[in-house]
Amino acid sequence: MESASPARGQWGSKLAFILASAGSAIGLGNIWGFPTITSANGGAAFVVVYLLAVALIGAPVMLAEFVIGRRTQRNPVGAFRALAPGTAWVVVGGLGVLAGVMILSFYSVIAGWTLAYIIKAASGEFVAGADTGAIFSSVAGSAPVAIGWHFAFMALTVLVVIGGVKNGIERWTKVLMPGLFAILLLLVVRAVTLSGAGPGLEFYLRPDFSRIDGGVILAAIGQAFFSLSLGMGAMITYGSYMTKDDDLETSAGWVVALDTSVALLAGLVIFPTLFHAGLEPGAGGPGMVFVVLTSLLSTIPPEPWGGTIFGVLFFLLLMVAALTSSISLLEVATAWLVDDKGVSRKKASIGLAALAFVIGIPSALANGAVPWLSSLPGIGMDFLSFLFMIFGQYALVVGALLISVFTGWVWGVKNAADEVRSNDGKFSFEKAWSFLIRFLCPVAIVILLGYLLWQQLGG
Ligand code: PFF
Repeated sequence: MESASPARGQWGSKLAFILASAGSAIGLGNIWGFPTITSANGGAAFVVVYLLAVALIGAPVMLAEFVIGRRTQRNPVGAFRALAPGTAWVVVGGLGVLAGVMILSFYSVIAGWTLAYIIKAASGEFVAGADTGAIFSSVAGSAPVAIGWHFAFMALTVLVVIGGVKNGIERWTKVLMPGLFAILLLLVVRAVTLSGAGPGLEFYLRPDFSRIDGGVILAAIGQAFFSLSLGMGAMITYGSYMTKDDDLETSAGWVVALDTSVALLAGLVIFPTLFHAGLEPGAGGPGMVFVVLTSLLSTIPPEPWGGTIFGVLFFLLLMVAALTSSISLLEVATAWLVDDKGVSRKKASIGLAALAFVIGIPSALANGAVPWLSSLPGIGMDFLSFLFMIFGQYALVVGALLISVFTGWVWGVKNAADEVRSNDGKFSFEKAWSFLIRFLCPVAIVILLGYLLWQQLGG
C-alpha cells in the first residue's frame, strides 16, 4: 500500500470524530426523510423494519466503512485501489463519488427551503391560522425563490468544505448539534399534548405487520443507509481522517445511536401534529414535513413570539444539521479530486458544487414551479423524489452491498478486525460483526433486489 500523504487533515480529538460523523449522519434524512418515508410506507410497521435494518445492516456497514477509511487514509476511490490494486473494485468508489454529487443536488434544494423558512419564521408568519400550505408554495413553488435558496445553501456548503477538515467541518459540528436535540425534545412535548395527537401516535407506534412487503423493506434499508450516510463512501472518507487512537467500534455505536434517536424524535413531532392538523399520512410528498412543522410552530404561545422564536431557532438548527451533512456529500468527490487528481481543494469543491447546483435545478422546480417536473409523466412522482429514490436509496443499497462483499470476502474480515483492534487490542463484537457483514448484509440485499426485479418483470 502506498503511504498516506502527510498533508491530509486529521480530526483534533476522539470526540471530534464522533461528532463529525454524527454531523454527517444527522440531517434532513432524519427530520425530513424519516417521517416522509414512514408516512408513505404505512407507519409503525415500517419503523420496526427500519430499526432492524439499522441494527443488523447499517451498523455493520458503518464499521466496515470506518475500517476501510482509517486503514487506507484515502478517499473511497483511492481506498479500493489501495486494498485491491488493479481490480474493478475502484468502481465502488466511483459510484460513491457520483452518488455524492447527485444526492447533494437535491439535498441542497430541501436545505434551501430551511433557509427560506428561517426568514418566514422571523417575519412573524408562524401564527395561529397561518396558511401553512401557502407558505410552502410561496417558497418551493416559485422558481426564483427555490433556485435562489438552493444557490445560497450550496454556497454555504462550499465555504465550509474549502476550510478543510479541521477548521471547517469540526468547528460547525461541535457547536450546534446538542441544540437541535434540545429543541426537538421541546417540540415532542408540544406535539404529543396537542388535541387529537392519539391517532398520530398510534399510526407511528402501533405496527400493522400486514403493511410489510418487498417495497417497504427496501425503503427501510435504503432509508437506513441514507440516514447513516452509508453506501457511498462518506464514512470511508471521514474514517480516513481518523487517528490510530480512535476506537472504531465505539464510534460506530455512538453515531448509530445518535442518528436513530434523532429520527425517532422527529417522528414523535411529526405524526401527532399531522393527525392534529387533519392531514392524510402518505399524501404530502416532499413538502409534508415543512407544512406539518409550520402548523406545530404556529400553536406555540404567545402570539406571535412563540412561533417566531421557536421557528427561527428550529429552522436554523435544522439548516446547520443539513450543512454538516451536505459538506460530507461534497467532501467525498472533493477528496477524490484532491488526493488522486492533484486538483486544489478550492477548485475541486467550487467546481463540484457548481455542477451539483446545476443538476439540482430541476429538483428545485419540482414542487409546484413546473407542473411536469412536479409529477413526472409515466412515473407519477416529482423529480426530486425520483432522484432521491434512485440515488438516495437504490445507489446506496447497491454501494453498501458491494462494500459488505468487499470487506467480508475480498479484503477479508481478519484484516478488517486487525484494524479495529489496532488502538486497544479489543473488538468486542467481532463474531457478530463478521457474520453480519459476510452473510446477513449481502444475502438480505441480494434477495430483496432479486425479489423486486422479479416483481417488476411481472412475476
Ligand atoms: N445522512 C444524511 C442525512 O440523513 O441527512 C444524508 C447523507 C449524507 C447521505 C452523506 C449520504 C451521505 F454520504
